Amino acid sequence: MQINYFTLYKIPANTLFVGKNVVFVPECHSTNTLALELSQNQSTTEGTVVITSHQTAGRGQRGNSWEAQPGENLTLSVILTPRFLPVRDQFFLNIVTSLALHDFLTEQMAKEVQVKWPNDILCNGKKLCGILIENQLQGLSIASSVVGIGLNVNQQTFTNENATSMTNETGKSFDLADLFVQLMMHLEAQFLQLRSGALAELKARYLAALYRRGEIHRYMKDGQEFAGEIIGINEEGKLAMKVDNAMSYFEVREIKYI
Ligand code: BTN
Repeated sequence: MQINYFTLYKIPANTLFVGKNVVFVPECHSTNTLALELSQNQSTTEGTVVITSHQTAGRGQRGNSWEAQPGENLTLSVILTPRFLPVRDQFFLNIVTSLALHDFLTEQMAKEVQVKWPNDILCNGKKLCGILIENQLQGLSIASSVVGIGLNVNQQTFTNENATSMTNETGKSFDLADLFVQLMMHLEAQFLQLRSGALAELKARYLAALYRRGEIHRYMKDGQEFAGEIIGINEEGKLAMKVDNAMSYFEVREIKYI
């Protein structure tokens, strides 16, 4: 299928680069896939956003799919070129994206939202937003990064009982274009903090927003259930958990929340 890309509009948001150039496609398989294709074509500028009203084969973490009813939600991917960031610090892209969404959603919904490691955004224990970050590495640095965001906005019914939306949590409906502009500003603010090297502060804020931190809950690894207390994350972005009075560190695919 031939895809026609076109620039929908220049966003009037007060940003330097994030969301200035918007590639809107009425329908596509996956904005992350389109953004990856665009980012491999040298002509894209940093901060370009690919957005669609109808994503037909949205991709999630761990090979899962991402479902979103057409026209009700935000499904978009931002192209960044964080060459300043060493590969060993790549989890900071998850941190800044999660923090941007955390701050943006807290502001919009006037409700407490939390970040579930590695980077889901929850409200009342249900998933409001999913993030899929795909990095292209070049040597020891990150040549480009596609930050995919699926935010449930006005959708009211879900096949997954653990999913929710901004509407379901607030009883209000939201203007997608307004939200888009605000979200771009939050993303840029956090990304600029990362670029300025404020790693310790970003990590501290991420820990403060972390779901289940300091509480004992049940988890599953290799079919075995166990109790653990989330303490934080290590330098590689692994989940640091106290299990039987010793520290354990988990990769994204290794552990399931119960
Ligand atoms: C997850 O929670 O598993 C991550 C979901 C990420 C979904 C978004 S929607 C926009 C972008 N395009 C995709 O194909 N996936 C991400």
